[in-house]
Amino acid sequence: MAIKPVLKMGDARLLQVAERVEKFDTYELKNLIQDMHDTMEAKDGAGLAAPQIGVGLQVVIFGVEKNSRYPNVEDVPYTVLINPVLKPLTQGMEEDWEGCLSVPGMRGMVPRFSRVSYQGFDQHGKSIDRNVDGFHARVVQHECDHLQGILYPMRITNFRTFGYTEVLFPGQKLME
Ligand code: NI
Repeated sequence: MAIKPVLKMGDARLLQVAERVEKFDTYELKNLIQDMHDTMEAKDGAGLAAPQIGVGLQVVIFGVEKNSRYPNVEDVPYTVLINPVLKPLTQGMEEDWEGCLSVPGMRGMVPRFSRVSYQGFDQHGKSIDRNVDGFHARVVQHECDHLQGILYPMRITNFRTFGYTEVLFPGQKLME
């Protein structure tokens, strides 16, 4: 389909709360998800939310396959998640580095719940219900935040660990 331009932080559309998807299995939804997939792949993202390509709907995709370019990432299955509901399964938070296609070239340490459950639907309306931890939990919290108009820098508690990727991790190829 098409690689779409990704909106950058500062664009008011990234701050809006996304609307629920009411109809599944539609041509429009299939196209949206294909565009999101193509955009995420082209830009080496671990995930993408529909508002990042200017579509204010509760649709996120994410997924990471371990490969030689990113030997240190944990596998996360490719997932299309619509109308998600996220619940922490612990009070415990973990800090780790995050990046975002809407905040290109930067990294920050972000606290996230270490274990969460999430419910939602795939593009056909089939229900999804998972308990996850580690990087999977981090990615889904980051993507679902986009649907509430929240970008990861808004979650940073210590701005001494926020900076340019090329300075923080010189010579390393990292996913956004
Ligand atoms: Ni993001």
